[in-house]
Amino acid sequence: MEPYVILNAAMTLDGKIATRTGSSEISGPEDLIRVHQLRKDLDSIMIGINTVLKDDPRLTVHKIPSQKSDNPLRVVTDSKARTPLNYRILNDEAPTLIAVSQKAPRDKINELINKGKNVDVILTGEKRVNLTILMDELAQRGIRTLMLEGGSTLNFSMLQEGLVDEVRVCVAPLIAGGVDAKTLVDGYGVDLMRDAFKLELVKKYELGKDLVLEYKVINF
Ligand SMILES: NC(=O)c1ccc[n+]([C@@H]2O[C@H](COP(=O)([O-])OP(=O)(O)OC[C@H]3O[C@@H](n4cnc5c(N)ncnc54)[C@H](OP(=O)(O)O)[C@@H]3O)[C@@H](O)[C@H]2O)c1
Repeated sequence: MEPYVILNAAMTLDGKIATRTGSSEISGPEDLIRVHQLRKDLDSIMIGINTVLKDDPRLTVHKIPSQKSDNPLRVVTDSKARTPLNYRILNDEAPTLIAVSQKAPRDKINELINKGKNVDVILTGEKRVNLTILMDELAQRGIRTLMLEGGSTLNFSMLQEGLVDEVRVCVAPLIAGGVDAKTLVDGYGVDLMRDAFKLELVKKYELGKDLVLEYKVINF
């Protein structure tokens, strides 16, 4: 069975997950603890290659007491295998799976594989990573839960493929504006509001200065 997917993000009141320049420190310290607890509770965590390139994240559990074994499997959708070899996502703090497509140069795939025993590569999809096949592959590897940590392009594809079960957002009392600032979900979007992805609010609470909203995705 495909992993249970929770899309989690911090956003401003106007739905931005980063500013035009890529600045993305949005939520307060209490939310960072919530995020790290969620990482600890789940089997895997996935981001798109643009988030890797912009933020160079570690994607580990490090803001709460933890040990190395608490770190989830890190998954990156990276069709052309652009993940830089010296980025923190490939460090030995946790295992990492780079999902690439047929567009990825063979040499770079080999360089990633040779990076160490913590790094694995899966090839799926012609031009872009086939997310449904990737989820099946994760399930076969024993992954039951996945935290989707963005960015907006990958969030859209995952919703469009019907692969997201829950959406959790931490809304900070900030407004960033900017037509070029990334929102929670970008991609092509839907043409008609009646085709928008439907959610049901299941939980809401204040967290420091922020507001956390948890929704179930209603598939039909
Ligand atoms: N506030 C938050 O909680 C939060 C969380 C995460 C990210 N962010 C911000 O979001 C920004 C990055 O977002 P982004 O939308 O530019 O990029 P992204 O979603 O991180 O990465 C998208 C890229 O993933 C690759 N990809 C491979 N297969 C895909 C598929 N089937 N569907 C979609 N993408 C696929 C594509 O590049 P290739 O074709 O080259 O593979 C695509 O352009 C950063 O500024 C980051 O700081 C904020």
